[in-house]
Amino acid sequence: MSIPVTILGATGLVGQVFCERLAAHPLFRIESLVAGPESAGLTYGEAVRWRRPGQVPAGLASMPLASPPEQLETPVAFSSLSPAAAARLEGPYAEAGAWVFTNAAAHRMDPDVPLVVPELNGDHLHRALDQERAGAIVANPNCTTVGLALALAPLRSGHGIREARVVSLQALSGAGLQGGELLELPDGLAPDIPGEAEKLARELPKILGRWDGKGPLEPASLTVQATCVRVPVAHGHTLSVDVTLDRPAAAADLWRAWSDYSGLPGAADLPSAPRPLIHVDEGMDAPRPGPHRDRGDGLAISVGGLKPLDASGLRWTFITLSHNLVRGAAGGAILTAEDAHRRGLLGHSANR
Ligand SMILES: NC(=O)c1ccc[n+]([C@@H]2O[C@H](COP(=O)([O-])OP(=O)(O)OC[C@H]3O[C@@H](n4cnc5c(N)ncnc54)[C@H](OP(=O)(O)O)[C@@H]3O)[C@@H](O)[C@H]2O)c1
Repeated sequence: MSIPVTILGATGLVGQVFCERLAAHPLFRIESLVAGPESAGLTYGEAVRWRRPGQVPAGLASMPLASPPEQLETPVAFSSLSPAAAARLEGPYAEAGAWVFTNAAAHRMDPDVPLVVPELNGDHLHRALDQERAGAIVANPNCTTVGLALALAPLRSGHGIREARVVSLQALSGAGLQGGELLELPDGLAPDIPGEAEKLARELPKILGRWDGKGPLEPASLTVQATCVRVPVAHGHTLSVDVTLDRPAAAADLWRAWSDYSGLPGAADLPSAPRPLIHVDEGMDAPRPGPHRDRGDGLAISVGGLKPLDASGLRWTFITLSHNLVRGAAGGAILTAEDAHRRGLLGHSANR
């Protein structure tokens, strides 16, 4: 039997991807759609400025849109609320019993809120049971952090990572809808996305950190410095990464680490898991957003452009690409909820 879910922020860019991917999902069934107060009383089809390929999924266009209720009627919610609305609403919904899988930043660094990329740290999901809530909040990392974490994890497990220096080229859709439209960049690019570099630096050690099943998490000890740039690409974040390893490697070792990687046991068997997880492009002309962001239905990442920075075998540069709206947002949150279901967590309350 499928689990009824609410989509919070259903009219936004991430909310549209939730609608697209949950309209026919094997575990979850859309029961309720919520957006801002101005849409209350309209149907989803009337209110949404649909920015995804094709039409609004059949059955959703005529569904009524609600403004945020006092309490959710479904045991699970997927949140793509704007930051202020998320900060106000997600806590009370989880306290009243819902499992809220969120893309918003408000609770990502709360100590007992798991910050999850299922292939890397799905086991951290059990931390949600330490929350002082009848339900739980489970957070998705920032859309740039997710791709970086997936690209670094295979190198880290074989060779260790001391530090990473990143320049991100982030898509317009990462900024959400602006009056119903994608952001425009009349001068070509915006050289600094406020707050983004800080999110990368603090979220990555939490995701890659070690948690032994109780008590606090031990953050991973690696330094990340980033410059985050908005570029005129519709979807897909491209990162240029300079990495310093702990132990020397040859290029073939790094290619193999990526192509063999499937993450934690069980993650590759989740209903929406991509196979392969990481696409390797050994030539120098890939990956590129247009042809490669939808690999694995938007949930796979791509790596390429690998070059040594010196002869030590420790310092390398490479390119990685991931779909910000799918792997970096809605698709990632659904995969995490699938993992929580597989682990028998949905519906459980805190360990009190
Ligand atoms: N875009 C990305 O690539 C991306 C990636 C990762 C994480 N995120 C995060 O995910 C969230 C959604 O991003 P987005 O790009 O989809 O933003 P968006 O296009 O601006 O959508 C925001 C959504 O929040 C709703 N909302 C705003 N104020 C509300 C209120 N007071 N009560 C209820 N709903 C309200 C909006 O409804 P109305 O249409 O009625 O205003 C809309 O559905 C943000 O927190 C963002 O930081 C985004």
